Amino acid sequence: MMKHINLSTHQPLNLNLVLVLDLDLDLDLVFIHLYKATHLFISFAKKIRMKPIRMVDLQGQYEKIKSEIDSSIMEVVTSTAFINGPAVQRFQKNLEQYLGVKHVIPCANGTDALQVSMMALGLQPGDEVITTSFTFIATAEVIALLHLTPVLVDVEKDTMNISVDAIRKAITPKTKAIVPVYLFGQSAPMEEIMALAKEFNLYVIEDACQSIGSDYYFADGTSKKTGAIGHLGCTSFFPSKNLGCYGDGGAVFTNDDDLAAKLRVVVNHGMKVRYYHDEIGVNSRLDSIQAAVLDVKLKYLDDYINARIAAADFYDKAFANSPKLITPFRYKKSRHVFHQYTLIGQGVNRDGLISFLQERGIPCMIYYPVPLHLQKAYLDPRYKQGDFPNTEWLSENVFSLPMHTELDEEQLKFITDSVLEFLNK
Ligand SMILES: Cc1ncc(COP(=O)(O)O)c(C=O)c1O
Repeated sequence: MMKHINLSTHQPLNLNLVLVLDLDLDLDLVFIHLYKATHLFISFAKKIRMKPIRMVDLQGQYEKIKSEIDSSIMEVVTSTAFINGPAVQRFQKNLEQYLGVKHVIPCANGTDALQVSMMALGLQPGDEVITTSFTFIATAEVIALLHLTPVLVDVEKDTMNISVDAIRKAITPKTKAIVPVYLFGQSAPMEEIMALAKEFNLYVIEDACQSIGSDYYFADGTSKKTGAIGHLGCTSFFPSKNLGCYGDGGAVFTNDDDLAAKLRVVVNHGMKVRYYHDEIGVNSRLDSIQAAVLDVKLKYLDDYINARIAAADFYDKAFANSPKLITPFRYKKSRHVFHQYTLIGQGVNRDGLISFLQERGIPCMIYYPVPLHLQKAYLDPRYKQGDFPNTEWLSENVFSLPMHTELDEEQLKFITDSVLEFLNK
């Protein structure tokens, strides 16, 4: 006769441990069950001890620099210099120094940074702007809002960044600018893109919203930060970005004095002298409180980048032998700052994997599930499904795992073990 003692009622955390006692005292069986139960208990205990896994852990990051951030914010509050206060100027100067760029023009967000750049360049309705079909919508959105013509081109399969050959083929007499996007945190081939721009007399506006801190290495051995290479560079300080504030924020970078002066007018209602508006501008400012947060975080940006790279190294190593996964390509001319850790699945049931991970409390995202040319609002008779095969293939197969500065080895191991368990099922 078998007697089952269900221990689940004695476990406060709903642990379904079933200990089986055989009255004939089959010791082997007892040991097997005890072994299994212990194993289960240890892995369960580990899981409940583990920090919750987040796509981005802003709370953990904040806690480490809480006193600095709090006093920086309080300084603004007590001074009441909420708009264009000293915190904004201080951050602007420090960022110029960090990037090695002559001018940083803060603004309200990365989308605005792109828009005011195009306005400051004086682009006119009908001018063509070449950009990638595989990016966040903001890049094309501002082109469309200004009644410019977005000309989309495909990306490279490995870097997921804009293809230089495709740019060359897309240039027409109406082309005025190229907007390379540094997707997920590494540079596009900027030496080639700048050469192309020079050949055809085009502006280059870098969409460095995902790549702040990333370096580009030129053939002559010099390097520049992304965003400081083209005529204008744009970034976003959205909270989840590598340098994120506690709300919205953005900036434009340039080495051109005239463009910088123009940008400062455009972001301020087209106004150089108060209440005299020489041109149509917008209201796009970085709040002093956000600048105060960013100025503290800027000091840690390289540490944050290193933490992201360390997490990416862990993932790469764990997935190195999985034939179903392509780990992020590291372009040798750039330092990848891993805004996202994005894998390409080969024959992977992506939806199945995402649900499997979600059941274990592991977030997993798709950046981006729909290419720009197939987005409802951007449907255009010039483009159809199949036009950008690399972009379409990537949209169908990429997925991004948690990536931030606070991931520890236990979490990374749990994530990678879980992904591999699903793939090996
Ligand atoms: C590639 C890219 N461009 C532009 C933006 C727009 O930045 P923001 O959200 O600050 O407007 C983002 C932000 O998500 C982005 O990832």
